[in-house]
Formats: sequence, structure tokens, C-alpha cells
Amino acid sequence: MTTLDDAFDTVPERTYTHHPQWGETVHRSAPDSIRREITALQVRPGDRILEIGTGSGYSSAILARLCGPRGRVTSVDISDELVTRAAAIHQERGVSGVDLHVGNGLAGHPPAGPYDCLVAWCTPPRLPRAWTDQVRDGGRIVACLPIACLPSTTLIATITIEEGQPRLLAVTGGGYAQSTPTAVDDALTIPGRWVDYCDHQPVPSWISTGWRDDDPQRASARASLDQLLHPGHTETYHELPLAWRSWSVYTAALGDRQVSLVSLRNQIRGIGHTTADSAALILADGTVIADTPHSPSLTVLRTWLDRWETAGRPDAGSLPTTLVPYRGTGLAGWDLRVRLPQPDNQQ
Ligand SMILES: C[S@@+](CC[C@H](N)C(=O)[O-])C[C@H]1O[C@@H](n2cnc3c(N)ncnc32)[C@H](O)[C@@H]1O
Repeated sequence: MTTLDDAFDTVPERTYTHHPQWGETVHRSAPDSIRREITALQVRPGDRILEIGTGSGYSSAILARLCGPRGRVTSVDISDELVTRAAAIHQERGVSGVDLHVGNGLAGHPPAGPYDCLVAWCTPPRLPRAWTDQVRDGGRIVACLPIACLPSTTLIATITIEEGQPRLLAVTGGGYAQSTPTAVDDALTIPGRWVDYCDHQPVPSWISTGWRDDDPQRASARASLDQLLHPGHTETYHELPLAWRSWSVYTAALGDRQVSLVSLRNQIRGIGHTTADSAALILADGTVIADTPHSPSLTVLRTWLDRWETAGRPDAGSLPTTLVPYRGTGLAGWDLRVRLPQPDNQQ
């Protein structure tokens, strides 16, 4: 039986990510993240595995080693170029047991199911029902899921299937680029989902707000982004470094419609409070920016920061989470949500 260490020692990562003939691809996952997710997946010899997001092909090759000659890896990518590239490298290396398909992985790949396990290397808008339908009872899913309708506020969930329903086994901090409906060169600079306004000049800056339903023309989102690109007030937070992942997941978990996330000049992320008239955020480097020193948003931001500090800057994976069935008209499935304990004065 091939152990995880054997698999990682045997499969040459750079052959997939920096191939002499096919060149380098940015569509690759960090080996440490691949190891963490595959560890949680608990692949056994003979397993039928569905992989969403083939990318370079490296993780498919690791999975193929782990499930062995009796198992099968079905890997789906939205990009036919990447599938062609990965297929050629597998062939060159003599890798067998991997079937590659071009398609939207949000639909899974029913013809080869049911699967013993499913792993996703891109973030869907929620846990798709198609995935839970295609994994057998007792099987596992490891996937990055959003905890709010804001880019990059995600957790990695390990899920088992019981009588066709998903049950959460564990969550950890982590993130992958969003899934996209068509192939894109770069899903990180400007995410395809939940960006309410993007200023492309001279380098992209964008904002995502929880109050987008009140702002269908996005004029207020644009004004908020402008306030944050040219803040009337700047200060440095007193407790650095910030612990960005804990703060961003905690803030997104507040479930407040005013929570907003920005990427400024493609250099730095910030998360905080905006309205149509005011804006205050803390950036990943600990700089607090606001429209004015007396911004109502700054008052709220300070309350949120106090609450987060009182909670002890909780590790993103330690927060209580639940899968909530989605009843809207979008992709059928479950939303991953964090339930923060209410502060004493709100209980
Ligand atoms: C980070 S890469 C995966 C890297 C891969 N794990 C590796 O070891 O190289 C994410 C992949 O997800 C793919 N992807 C994005 N949206 C998708 C979708 N809707 N269905 C299938 N694949 C998708 C992208 O094309 C990209 O190749």
C-alpha cells in the first residue's frame, strides 16, 4: 500500500508545474495544501475518486498512487487546455488510472460515480448537491467552501455522506480560488463572484459588500471603494500582527450585511464595515482606514475588533460551523455557515 509520504516522494511536482515542453502553469495548488486535503480525504487502495480542478495534473498523479491499480481517479477541469496538458504529462510518465474530462465540476461527473471520495481544488459558491449525490454513503468530500457571499472568506470542510445527506466532520482555515463557469487565466486578481465594483485603473481594486441588494446599480459600492482608495483617516491598529485569516473569517461570520471586503491596487486585502455613506476597514497589515475620523463605520469596526479580541482571536477552524440547506433558485446544495456565540449584551 502506497503511503502519503511514498506518493509525495515518487511524483515529481515540477514535471507537472514546470514542464520542459508544456511550460509553467499558474493553475497549481501548494504541495502543503494538497497534502493537508488529501490527508483529510483518507484515500484507500481501490477507491474511486472524483477530483474537481485538474490544474497541472500533479494532485491527480498523487491520488492515482494512493488508490493504486484497483482504484480510479476521475478528474474534471473547466479548461480543455489544462486537461490536454495534464493528459500529455500523465502519458509521458506512464501514469494509469486517471480519466480526465473537460467540464464544469460543479455538476460532478455522474457517469463514473458513485465515488468513494471527492476533493475540490477550486471553491464553489456552496457545497453542490451534485457532489453529495455522487459520493456513496460513508464516503468523504474535502472542499473549500465560502462562509459568506464575499470572496476569500472560506474554510476547508471535511464532510461525510450519511443516507445521502452531508455531515460535517471537521473544518480548517484555508482557501482556493473560486470555481469559474468558463476557463480563466487568473481567478485571483478579480474574483468572478461577489465583486460589486471593480476599478481597473491603473491596477485593479475591487469591493464586495453584503448590502449589494440595496445597491443594484452599484453606485454606492463604487463610492465606498473610492473612499477607501483615498481615505480621510488612517491609523495603525494597536495589536500587531493582525492574524488576518482569523479576523477575516470572524468578521465574515458576523453575518452582518454591512461587512465588506476590498482588494486595494491588487496589493492588499481589507475587511470591515461600509454603508452607502461611510466606510472603515482594517487591512491585512494592520492599517485602519476610514472615510473620516468620525466615521460611523469606524465606530462599528472598533466594536467588531473588540469582540474579536475578547473572543481570543479564534483560529478559523475552531469556530462552530453548520451546513444549511440552500432553498433559493441558484446552485442546489448547502451553505457552510459559522455560528458565533452572541456577546453577553445581545443574548
Ligand atoms: C489550483 S488549480 C488545481 C491545481 C491542482 N490541484 C494541481 O495539483 O495542480 C484549480 C483548477 O480548478 C479549475 N476550475 C475552476 N473552475 C472550475 C470548474 N467550474 N470546474 C472544474 N474545474 C474548475 C481551474 O481551471 C484550475 O485548473
